[in-house]
Amino acid sequence: METIRGKMSHTLDSTTLQARLANYSAITLDLGTGDGKFAFCHAESFPGRFVIGLDSCRENLREFSRTKLPNLLYVIASAQALPKELSGLVSYVTINFPWGSLLGSLLTGDPLLLCGLESVLTTGAKLDLRLNGGALAEAGWTFEDGVAQVRENLVRAGWRINQPAPMDSHDLHAFPSSWAKRLAFGRDPRAIQLSGCI
Ligand SMILES: C[S@@+](CC[C@H](N)C(=O)[O-])C[C@H]1O[C@@H](n2cnc3c(N)ncnc32)[C@H](O)[C@@H]1O
Repeated sequence: METIRGKMSHTLDSTTLQARLANYSAITLDLGTGDGKFAFCHAESFPGRFVIGLDSCRENLREFSRTKLPNLLYVIASAQALPKELSGLVSYVTINFPWGSLLGSLLTGDPLLLCGLESVLTTGAKLDLRLNGGALAEAGWTFEDGVAQVRENLVRAGWRINQPAPMDSHDLHAFPSSWAKRLAFGRDPRAIQLSGCI
């Protein structure tokens, strides 16, 4: 799979990945990681977990991917075509404020995303998904209907999902991702968190 550090990309095979993961029992995957700030903060806060930030767009990852935490890796890939090297490894998935095709796949229940995701998970893996009103509006959905649709698609795919938990602008401001900060100060700070396990 393709990994990135600064402007340089490298191919990482399964054997080398397994060697890097050897001392970690829990692996977090941050899908649609953006500039990678959340993945960085998560890796820094939980040195016993290995964190993989994944995004299809490499340009935003330059700054955070230069950092040298031993438990952090950034991968360039589409969420609908997750690298086979991740198969069966991930115990915790985060998806923070998705937009574009990542949000589109959540809204349509795209099997390329949902089955692909399942294939990289361990049994009992946990999910935290945060959705925001502006992205859902851009995708043509009201906030309430969009959240309900995504939740229903996740449940159909086998996830046990709790009731949505609203995030207010204070929560967004305190949340360690760059997009959360933009939303907290923006015109449409509506957001919710969906949490569950499979
Ligand atoms: C609004 S940004 C949020 C970034 C980050 N999670 C945060 O909270 O700051 C949405 C991200 O989803 C990524 N994305 C959209 N579709 C994707 C896909 N199909 N596969 C991987 N990443 C995708 C975009 O490139 C973008 O970085």
